Amino acid sequence: MNSPNSRLRVAILISGRGSNMQALIEDCARADNPAEIALVVANKADAGGLARAGAAGIATAVVSHRTFADRAAFEAQIEEKLRAAGIQLICLAGFMRILSDEFVAAWRDRMINIHPSLLPSFRGLDTHARALAAGARFHGCTVHFVRPEMDTGPIIVQAAVPINSGDTPDSLAARVLSAEHRIYPLALRWIAEGRVRVENERAIVEGAVAAADLLINPRA
Ligand code: GRF
Repeated sequence: MNSPNSRLRVAILISGRGSNMQALIEDCARADNPAEIALVVANKADAGGLARAGAAGIATAVVSHRTFADRAAFEAQIEEKLRAAGIQLICLAGFMRILSDEFVAAWRDRMINIHPSLLPSFRGLDTHARALAAGARFHGCTVHFVRPEMDTGPIIVQAAVPINSGDTPDSLAARVLSAEHRIYPLALRWIAEGRVRVENERAIVEGAVAAADLLINPRA
């Protein structure tokens, strides 16, 4: 995706605390990472992640959806920030605004998202409570390319975590979140290394090695 001596320029879009953003920033700070976090955009001025990004020396911008008449004007301002920073790939990391079909189409196969479930199960919100209510034995997280329909698109990587009998939505969310922090940087690296392509709406990761063991969780 990028030439050998230039790093892939990445923007992260956030709305909140930005722990996934932080994981991406930390991994991209390693010398062997071919991606560079060039910009963090938040749609809320009080997003906790902004301070974390600033502390890491990353350029930040606030584009508040409240200050624009409509979605098109809001997105045009985001596009302007991305263009000015020479952004090549967008990572959504807890970005809580729906993006228009036009915006998604413009960034097709150049925008990825992390979702706290094993898609296609539990699209949308409150995934942890819903997985518990369903009596699922496993939950997890997914990094995928973004398509217009929310929480759909070619899956790049997933991690599964067991659901334990005493779990609450919060304890389960914490277990999933630490898996998120592992797979999101992995997916970004693979893309920056030029190893990910989309064929027939499936993402193929070159050189991906399957886990040697299967996770089976009968649960006590
Ligand atoms: C994460 O659970 C992510 O999967 C979801 O929103 C949450 C964002 O958390 N899309 P953080 O801001 O990255 O800490």
